[in-house]
Amino acid sequence: MPATLFTPYKLNDTLTLNNKILMAPLTRCMADDDLVPTQTMADYYARRADAGLIISEATIIRPDGQGYVNTPGLYTQAQIDGWKVVTQAVHDKGGKIFAQLWHTGRVAHPFFFGEENGEVLSASNIGIEGTIPRNRDLTYQEPKAATIEDIASLVADYATAADNAIKAGFDGVEIHGANGYLIDQFLHYSCNNRTDEYGETPENMARFAVEVIDAIIEKIGSDRTAIRLSPGAYFNMEPDNRDRAVFDTLLKQLEPRDLAFIHLGIFDDAMEFDYLDGQASSYLRKQYNQTIVGVGSYTAQTGSDAIDNNQFDLLAIGRAFIANPDYVAKVRDGRELTAYDDAMLAELV
Ligand code: FNR
Repeated sequence: MPATLFTPYKLNDTLTLNNKILMAPLTRCMADDDLVPTQTMADYYARRADAGLIISEATIIRPDGQGYVNTPGLYTQAQIDGWKVVTQAVHDKGGKIFAQLWHTGRVAHPFFFGEENGEVLSASNIGIEGTIPRNRDLTYQEPKAATIEDIASLVADYATAADNAIKAGFDGVEIHGANGYLIDQFLHYSCNNRTDEYGETPENMARFAVEVIDAIIEKIGSDRTAIRLSPGAYFNMEPDNRDRAVFDTLLKQLEPRDLAFIHLGIFDDAMEFDYLDGQASSYLRKQYNQTIVGVGSYTAQTGSDAIDNNQFDLLAIGRAFIANPDYVAKVRDGRELTAYDDAMLAELV
């Protein structure tokens, strides 16, 4: 048993985790057609409540943020009530759970939310190639560059969704600022060519992320606010050497905001990025002095070693948690893990 993982971790005065293993956010596309979480989802999360902290699957803040079928939301009373059942089930088992707040930006499609209910918004009018998941006839649209008014309403809607998360019983929120979705689209040069106060310079490109963070802190407090970031562009996104300066600037601004943590977004943390001088987690560690959650193809042992080597403070586990609802108990007892297989995504077990 890697002992490091099983020591409690004090995030701040509000939250102490029972162990250092987080369940990574994992989209499963199994909310009902009103994007309300179901009892099956509550059972699924409750089975994993012995994680030090669960991060919920990405949860959209408003209809035009939707890019995948049946992803849950946090903007209607029915969705809040559905999440109450989930958070209660996790709390009843002694667990903690944050909501991951999501807007997919240019990865959204009116197929999901209806032409009459919004437009596809992004930092700039730069689209992605390809067809939307589960509907191979529909290609991604060229997004509209968000106006200053659009940006103000997005910031307000992130804050409302955070407030709704607390009403639904979540212990906090993780802002999804990673993996090529809306916030990340402002942070990378390949998809932000704005020339106003949200583009062109690192300070400007970091502004939307900081405004979202500040609006959420104002609603629910910094102890309950975290963010996921992908300094290494990799998903739906082209890397650009200039991105480094944007993240340098953003991380400097986050330091005094005393967030609960910053969570790296990456599939395999062995990936190296020239412009980050190596692994994304090493880059984060150098630029930011507070709690960092590492992730990306780690095992309990390699993740524990990385914590011992001061690479990060907490370990998030994704695919292995899909394959092993009892991941924490198995690791604690030294039992063999079931291998992950994409076929497991068909059912919530
Ligand atoms: C993911 N990942 C992900 N990330 C995120 O920020 N929000 C999400 O909703 C999802 N959804 C999701 C679904 C599925 C099926 C997979 C496999 C992954 C990424 C995930 O949180 C994690 O970063 C990666 O899986 C890498 O960690 P592991 O799996 O190597 O431990």
